[in-house]
Amino acid sequence: MFHFLITGATSGIGAAVLELLSLSNIYYPDKSKLKITLVGRGEEKLKQTADLYKNTDINYLIIDLQDPLSIEEALKDDLQNLKNVNRLIYSAGQTRIEGIRQLSVKRNMEILNINYLSFVELLRVIILNKPAESKLSAVAVSALAATTGAPYTDSYSAAKKALEVYIKNSSLELFKYNTIVNAVAPAYVDTPMLKFNRLINKNFDDSIKSIQPLGLISPEAAAKEILNLLESDCCAGTIRFLNAGMQY
Ligand SMILES: NC(=O)c1ccc[n+]([C@@H]2O[C@H](COP(=O)([O-])OP(=O)(O)OC[C@H]3O[C@@H](n4cnc5c(N)ncnc54)[C@H](OP(=O)(O)O)[C@@H]3O)[C@@H](O)[C@H]2O)c1
Repeated sequence: MFHFLITGATSGIGAAVLELLSLSNIYYPDKSKLKITLVGRGEEKLKQTADLYKNTDINYLIIDLQDPLSIEEALKDDLQNLKNVNRLIYSAGQTRIEGIRQLSVKRNMEILNINYLSFVELLRVIILNKPAESKLSAVAVSALAATTGAPYTDSYSAAKKALEVYIKNSSLELFKYNTIVNAVAPAYVDTPMLKFNRLINKNFDDSIKSIQPLGLISPEAAAKEILNLLESDCCAGTIRFLNAGMQY
């Protein structure tokens, strides 16, 4: 039985993961052995997303991942149902284009919370709740921007780099808890998250190949990398760069 917990499934890369899980026979072909719990902040969107795949066992939990302090309490009543979670995909994220003069502690914390601290807290609660012998594999979505640097995304890049350091650093200790964590770090992926880039650069799509020669990554391609890494027998504590040809 595969019990997935997925954040960020209402849009972009997370939505593509959910589609592959529910409709593709390449990954997890026996759908009767698949249970999926979505975690997100808005009930309407979560319901709409779950309703897309009526033949898959999908439920959802409402948690605002900008508030990591609320996660443990929010999961309290569902811990019994979450005991057998053995796959975690953390695709929730937010970015902002802002100069350092706008980057107050409050705004910095919001980006740090959603992109880093809520993953750490969600993982912690799931590990505490799972039977010791049960294996857990987790993949978090970082960003190549944390390594290449991207102007006006200081809080985002710092949060994603913190996430990567956590993934690498926690890996050895996590073996004790039968848990493997990895991350993917994509270059630009064609999702609604690019709205800011398209707003400030009207030629963003035309010029993308000068930045990443393979062009924009499709959400499906990123989702496949996530699912491959989730089932990898030879990766733990790694960051897989989906660079689309970008130098880093
Ligand atoms: N697109 C890119 O070029 C790119 C490149 C590198 C890395 N990434 C990373 O890839 C991951 C997925 O991003 P995407 O491109 O698929 O973006 P997206 O289409 O904007 O999706 C972001 C997801 O995060 C969820 N989310 C945002 N704030 C939340 C909150 N406070 N609580 C719970 N859920 C929240 C959104 O839920 P709602 O539907 O409720 O808003 C949505 O499901 C992110 O971690 C992002 O940083 C993206």
